[in-house]
Amino acid sequence: MLDAMATAKVGDDVFQEDPTVQKLENLAAEKTGKEAAVFVPSGTMGNLISVLSHCGRGDEILLGNKSHISLYEVGGVSALGGVHPRTLPNNNDGTISIEILEKGIRHSDIHSPPTRLICLENTHNLCQGSPIHPEYMMSVWNLAKKYGLKIHLDGARIFNAAVALKMPVSKLTEKVDSVMFCLSKGLSAPVGSLVCGSSEFIDKARKARKMVGGGMRQAGYLAAAGIISLVNLVDRLQEDHENAKMLATQISQIEGIELDKSKIKTNIIFFKLTGLDGEAFLQQLEKKQIKILMTDPDAGMFRAVLHREVSKEQVGTVIESFKSILA
Ligand SMILES: Cc1ncc(COP(=O)(O)O)c(C=O)c1O
Repeated sequence: MLDAMATAKVGDDVFQEDPTVQKLENLAAEKTGKEAAVFVPSGTMGNLISVLSHCGRGDEILLGNKSHISLYEVGGVSALGGVHPRTLPNNNDGTISIEILEKGIRHSDIHSPPTRLICLENTHNLCQGSPIHPEYMMSVWNLAKKYGLKIHLDGARIFNAAVALKMPVSKLTEKVDSVMFCLSKGLSAPVGSLVCGSSEFIDKARKARKMVGGGMRQAGYLAAAGIISLVNLVDRLQEDHENAKMLATQISQIEGIELDKSKIKTNIIFFKLTGLDGEAFLQQLEKKQIKILMTDPDAGMFRAVLHREVSKEQVGTVIESFKSILA
């Protein structure tokens, strides 16, 4: 990957003259079955420019109460776009019930902001990395069509979903108007995400990217890494899923850990620590050079994410460490 980056052919991407960025964008469009794509520095910017391109000030979006856009993107859609986010409850599998979505759609009442967009997430980070099935996407599409709404998919980990469901990414993105996915995270590139959609939508998104300061110049050095990710590092995500399953299965048997291993379908595990104070647990792990995220200190919730830099052997070491700390 570093060799590909060092030897990339580059140009000024703000003028769309960087051949490596163009190659990456074409590849992303092809994988997601869309007409075009635009390279952005982060998933957060990708989601933001997607919402800005679908909505105007005062419009409303419907999204899950556990969605990344709602919880972890600094409220950018409202702060920068004047867009009103209406959060609806996520089910444990990351979906939002169709009935609840339908009730959430506003009608032409003088008091209401107009609903423009439904935002979904696949895999769903906070819902144990659940992959969302194409049948559900089809139901949301039917609803969106009925009310003239657009759909944006936060597909930061859409390749994990595709690998877990054993289908091409395009099957999961077929029914959405736009999708953002990340090259960093499980796909192992150092930086970057892509927004994919129709050519007309991507023209708007490219302009929105420039407006929020995401126009990059010789970005081909970064895009070269992303091409390696998409060409060589997708199938291996299965290893991360197997490692996650192994970790979940083993630690769920340890007294002091609550975890439903049947929910683990991709590379994300959430578990609750009941046997020890969270900070004390983190300190013990640090001594063993193991880093893990405590997501909710009050509830004792932790998140572990498996990726290319964590081998099966290292997962074994983590399991043994958990056992010895909680024994
Ligand atoms: C589901 C989801 N969407 C979007 C993002 C944002 O990506 P980035 O960190 O590149 O801004 C993340 C990051 O963890 C994520 O998990």
